[in-house]
Amino acid sequence: MQLCFNSLNHTMNLFATPNDTERILFLRKELNRHNYNYYVLNAPEISDRQFDDMMHELQELEERHPEMSDPNSPTQRVGSDRSNDFEPVTHKRPMLSLGNTYSRGDVQAFYERVAESLGGEPFDICCELKFDGLSISLLYEHGRLVRAATRGDGVQGDDVTANVRTIRTVPLVLPEGLDYPEEFEIRGEVLMPWKSFERLNAERERREEPLFANPRNAASGTLKSKKSAAVAQRRLDAYLYYLLGDGLTAQTHYERMQQAARWGFNVSPTAKLAHSLQDIYDYIDYWDEARHSLPFATDGIVLKVNDLRQQQRLGYTAKNPRWAIAYKFQAEQAVTRLLDVTFQVGRTGAVTPVANMEPVLLAGTTVRRASLHNEDIIRQLDLHIGDMVRVEKAGEIIPQIVGVADVAPANAAERGAAVQFIKTCPECGATLVRYEGEAAHYCPNDTACPPQIKGRIEHFISREAMNIDSVGPETVDDYYERGLIRDAADLYRLTVEQLMGNDGTRRRSAEKVIAGIRRSLDVPFERVLFALGIRFVGKVVAKTLARRFGSLDALRAASLDDLMQTEGVGQAIAESVLRYFADERNLAFVARLAEAGVRMEAEQAALQSTALAGMSIVISGTFARHSREEYKALIEAHGGKNVGSISKKTTFILAGENMGPSKLEKASKLGVPLKTEDEFLQMIEG
Ligand code: IVH
Repeated sequence: MQLCFNSLNHTMNLFATPNDTERILFLRKELNRHNYNYYVLNAPEISDRQFDDMMHELQELEERHPEMSDPNSPTQRVGSDRSNDFEPVTHKRPMLSLGNTYSRGDVQAFYERVAESLGGEPFDICCELKFDGLSISLLYEHGRLVRAATRGDGVQGDDVTANVRTIRTVPLVLPEGLDYPEEFEIRGEVLMPWKSFERLNAERERREEPLFANPRNAASGTLKSKKSAAVAQRRLDAYLYYLLGDGLTAQTHYERMQQAARWGFNVSPTAKLAHSLQDIYDYIDYWDEARHSLPFATDGIVLKVNDLRQQQRLGYTAKNPRWAIAYKFQAEQAVTRLLDVTFQVGRTGAVTPVANMEPVLLAGTTVRRASLHNEDIIRQLDLHIGDMVRVEKAGEIIPQIVGVADVAPANAAERGAAVQFIKTCPECGATLVRYEGEAAHYCPNDTACPPQIKGRIEHFISREAMNIDSVGPETVDDYYERGLIRDAADLYRLTVEQLMGNDGTRRRSAEKVIAGIRRSLDVPFERVLFALGIRFVGKVVAKTLARRFGSLDALRAASLDDLMQTEGVGQAIAESVLRYFADERNLAFVARLAEAGVRMEAEQAALQSTALAGMSIVISGTFARHSREEYKALIEAHGGKNVGSISKKTTFILAGENMGPSKLEKASKLGVPLKTEDEFLQMIEG
């Protein structure tokens, strides 16, 4: 099917010749992909604004073509951030989202609509910041936090109580004697302040882990983390902005928020009541500037009709309240010239197009380069060399090209060459491949493409892997160019003489390099496994696999099922491991490493005690003190056996927070006792 790529830029629609059917199908596919990138991978490729624009375009097209309606179109649902790792919870009251607007005209239209619906009755609007994080619902009973849930699809979310408990600004128990009702719900936003975000990304950079694109993704990734101890370290914060419940007394939103603040909730003091449209504009103008000095990210303003009876009269559409709206700030943009597009090949062979532009000042930094992500994005943008492009830096740290600036159809012929994605690898000339369902192109020549080889060696020697700090990227480059190494196993055959070459003064440094390589023979197996660079096997997965299988031979012999029964290992990881060991070249490489003395077995942990000897223990729920894997290791270290499912033979269940209801039922039916993590730790410490 030939797709018709239309620009995201509305001015470009003038000369595009869209075939509506194809455009609808294209937009659906793209929006689904971006939804997945955003909600599941936490790695958006496009800005919110671009996403919203595509969604609006699709909505309009679908309205014009009712014959094309499809219940599975991305317009038919609000994106879900549900994850399989948490217990689902059904919200007591659905969590709606707000309609977005980007212009003052839309704000005015909202204001006038409200005025008209209220039949001329006076009304106030509560203006608030739009916190850029992820929404959360907190349920309190008798002054105690009983449940925290993400929004999910608005009807069902994830139970993240254990994780939310670690957020210091969320009160777990309210002071006694205040006027809160027996039961209420308060909603707000979990976010990561800039400071925590920067610290986290600096740490990830050191560990060579992928960076979070913005604080919102970092907050959402953190809140979905399985270990609440890790959540605690990352310093999330929460602002509350919506109080709901039957026994509440205050009659306006603003008073409710003040009440919530008195009960101990973190309510932002930045909210303000507007009595006119001009008051709203003033608030917007003020915060559009002042937001840059806030300690956290905001992406707009939320406007809410203040009086709750008036809210009720205005009611709801299917998706949004009619009494509230979000105004999104324009992301900061600059216009500059696209000079050329170059292509970079990474360790995995993935080819990334990079736009090189005339330097331009944007949100405080000079921008010269922007990632173009992949071929589809280039085509959507309809980029030509020499075009003036709009560059944007929203919450994102990496600038993005969001469109071509002011190209009139008349001069279309005068534009430079259209940017084409390359067909062959710029480093080795191999024909690039694009795998089914993936947006990226890869150079398949993993055995002979220099940046891939060098990248793999660099990964192998990195601190978190074999930690050969006597060799850096430049040294790898040098040895590679001199033909001394073709893969990481060659490192172990290097001699001082080879490294010195004819230069006697280099002996000492050569000796240091060799000593560093020797020392890496002591690196534990889990890090060797990480060092191999198997796709999707990061540090954490490597550790889990090393613990579960104990040796490279055992891992190699594992079936897809065996692999997938490992915690945190899904289909993609399992298949990647199988693929790795199915390749003769990898087997030969691993054999050479083993021959050199690199560890291929985990050390047998000495039995620390026999406190759990003969016991079969099931682990269920989420824990605060250790991860599941750590508990598994502890059970084994104390002579016990960790089993997967509850049976009559189960000695007890190590039960964390949020144990699933079906497991609870089974345990009580079979009379299997539960032990809390504290009780368990006491057992083995005693
Ligand atoms: S009120 C029914 N107030 O923006 C009204 N939302 O699409 C519920 N947000 O899902 C939302 N700051 O995650 C409200 N001051 C604020 C907000 C806010 C951020 C988020 C929230 C919501 C989304 C709107």
